[in-house]
Amino acid sequence: MRIGILTSGGDCPGLNAVLRGFCKCAFNVIEGVEIYGFYDGYAGLMDRNYKVLSPADVENILDLGGTILGSSRQPYKLMTVKEGDGPTKLQTMVENYKKLKLDCLVTLGGAGTHKTASLLSVEGCNVIGLPKTIDNDIYGTDITFGFHTAVDIAADAIRRIRTTADSHSRVFFVEVMGNKVGWLTLYAGLASGADVILIPEIAYDEEKLARFIKDKKQSSRSVIVAVAEGVLSSREAAMSKKERKDYFAGFGTATAAERLAASVSQATGIQCRATVLGHIQRGGEPCAYDKFVSTEIGAFGAHLAKVGRFGVTVCVRGGKLGFNMLVDIAGKTKRVAADGQTVLLAKDMGIYFGD
Ligand code: F6P
Repeated sequence: MRIGILTSGGDCPGLNAVLRGFCKCAFNVIEGVEIYGFYDGYAGLMDRNYKVLSPADVENILDLGGTILGSSRQPYKLMTVKEGDGPTKLQTMVENYKKLKLDCLVTLGGAGTHKTASLLSVEGCNVIGLPKTIDNDIYGTDITFGFHTAVDIAADAIRRIRTTADSHSRVFFVEVMGNKVGWLTLYAGLASGADVILIPEIAYDEEKLARFIKDKKQSSRSVIVAVAEGVLSSREAAMSKKERKDYFAGFGTATAAERLAASVSQATGIQCRATVLGHIQRGGEPCAYDKFVSTEIGAFGAHLAKVGRFGVTVCVRGGKLGFNMLVDIAGKTKRVAADGQTVLLAKDMGIYFGD
C-alpha cells in the first residue's frame, strides 16, 4: 500500500505528533506500506515534491513544534480555477495522485484543507482527513489537535498580562487568534480569569461594553478583556462584507484589540492597552493532552487506511475516536453556541460577553 501524507494550512502544535502516530502505526500494521510525505501541504502534491518517509524520519518528533513536512495555505476557492490553458490545481493533484500510484492520501489540516480533501475524494482519490487547528472549529469533532496547547499559551499570556495590568491599574484588551470562531478566546479567557470575553459568535454593543468596563474599573484595579481577532460590534455585524472591509480599512493595520483599546479609552477616559498574542499561539511544543490526542488520532488514521475506510475524517466524540464523511462536514463550521452551557455559566459568574 502506498500512502501520501501532508500537513496543510496554518500550522499548530501536534502536527509532528500526528505524523509520528500515523507512520509508526502504519509501519507496524500495514504490511509493505510505503509513505510519501509531501512537502508544504497540497503544494507538494501539485509539484510531486515529496520524500519517502522511513521509521527514522518520525523518531523523536513527538515533542517538536511545527511540521517536519512544512505547510502552506492553498485557498480552496482557487482549487477549481483554470490556470491559463492548463489544468486546475485540483486536476493536477488528482493526476499526480494517479501518476504516483497512491492508494490513499492523508491530509492533516483545518477547515479549508478538509474542503479540498472532500473535493479530492469526490474526484476518486482515497482520502483520510485528520482534524488540525488551534481554532477547534472543525464540524463533527469535539476536539482538534493543537487547540489545547494554544489555550495553555493564551491563558498563560493573559495571566501574565493581569499582573502588569494590576501594577498600573489599566484595562487590557488581549487579542487571541480566531477569525470566525471564539473557542480559543472562550477557553483561554475562562482559564485565565478574564473579566470580559468577546467572541465572533456574540456581537458586542459598543456603549454597553464601555459602560461595563467603566463600572468594573470602580471595583477592580485592572480589567482584562479577552478578544477574539474576528470579533464584531453589533454595528459592524450589520454591515455588508464590502462595507465592513472599507470601514476596517479606515483603521489601517489596527487589529480588533487595538481598535477596541482606542475606542474604549476615548469613551471612558481610562488608560487602555492592547496586546496581540498572534502566532506565538501556534508555535512550540504541544501540551501533554495534545501529544496524547495527536498520537491517538494518527494511529487511528493508520487503521482506517489499513481497512480501506476512505472519504472520511477522524473525529473525537465524547472522548472516543470515530470518523465523519468528508462530504458531510466540509464547508461547515463548529461555532460556540451563544446560549450554550459554558457561556451561560460564565455569564452567571459575572463574566461579560458584550451583549
Ligand atoms: O486557522 C488558524 C489561524 O491561526 C487562525 O486562528 C488565524 O485567524 C489564522 O490562522 C492566521 O493565519 P496566518 O498564519 O495565515 O496569518
